Amino acid sequence: MDFKFSFKVNVEDDSGDDKEKESLNSSQPDSLITPPCICYSIKDILDNQNSFDDYIYTIESIKINEVCLYFIQPCFENMSLYENNEQPDKKPEGTKRNCYEEPTKCSRLTQSNVLDTSDLVPNVYEGGLKVWECTIDLVKFLQGLDLDGKIVCDLGCGIGLPGICAAAKNAKHVVFQDFNDFVITKATGMSVILNSWINENVFKKGSNSEGIMDNEEIDVRFKSYIDTIKKEDISKWNKFAFISGDWSTAASAIREKVDVILMAETIYSISSYEKLHDLINNILAKEGVAYVAAKSFYFGVGGGVQLWTDFVKKKNVFRIDSVQIIDAPLKREILKMSWF
Ligand SMILES: C[S@@+](CC[C@H](N)C(=O)[O-])C[C@H]1O[C@@H](n2cnc3c(N)ncnc32)[C@H](O)[C@@H]1O
Repeated sequence: MDFKFSFKVNVEDDSGDDKEKESLNSSQPDSLITPPCICYSIKDILDNQNSFDDYIYTIESIKINEVCLYFIQPCFENMSLYENNEQPDKKPEGTKRNCYEEPTKCSRLTQSNVLDTSDLVPNVYEGGLKVWECTIDLVKFLQGLDLDGKIVCDLGCGIGLPGICAAAKNAKHVVFQDFNDFVITKATGMSVILNSWINENVFKKGSNSEGIMDNEEIDVRFKSYIDTIKKEDISKWNKFAFISGDWSTAASAIREKVDVILMAETIYSISSYEKLHDLINNILAKEGVAYVAAKSFYFGVGGGVQLWTDFVKKKNVFRIDSVQIIDAPLKREILKMSWF
């Protein structure tokens, strides 16, 4: 495949003058520099799980029309993320090692202040561990599309159900992009493997997922499946690629143009519009389309369907049309962007 992935390496931006970048790097404090994105293959995702037994998660499922999608929901119990490599004073007694213990450059977060009081913390955690409403709208919408042989990118994927659905609909390659590396490695990647395994081993053997295995049984069998594929040739997984990092850095990791961009709940923050638009501009194929599922307004953060539509129209690079309206107290929509 032609994606510019030498996996798990930091991808340097090809553009611009190196000397200028060096001097910028040396003169600016760390906080002003956006780190390059990181690319992962399925092998990297698997290598990242030292031992799947140590990793606290639940298996969840959502039935969307006729399709049942599964996902790995990492558990936040005792989670904290540490600013500037600050270490915890003391590890809580009796807890399992969990996936968030590695120091991450962000402010101190705990389960309660991430999940209970806020769904996202701007520029730190952008909400990728939750399945948001518009994802369901987008998955439903995708069920009516022909994605056979397409290169698809789920931008701001979070768990990545639209991308997972695209893979099940025979997309040729699916790229998942999320702001946070722990979302990609602990939730998205593992959910991709989980659904592929269920598709191959459950759907093809039985009629559908219902009544065949409950989530607990899936969990037990999935663990042993993970141990098996770690030892196998995993070239069949090459259709999947993963990127973590800011939108301003992701284009450098994608060499082949993308036929279909999928985005759910990504246009909530006006301050990101410029870089999101640039990214779409850089990666979308000539005949490509982007589907944007979003709410009419995001209270507290300010973006929404009308503001994004106005922004895109003003840029005058893409056509933007509403292709579906979901009537609800807070209206939701699916927008389609295509080149003029
Ligand atoms: C509200 S979540 C939506 C997740 C998922 N698409 C869903 O609908 O369930 C917003 C997503 O946008 C992505 N995001 C937001 N700002 C970003 C940025 N500046 N760079 C990269 N990704 C960003 C994050 O990856 C985050 O998962």
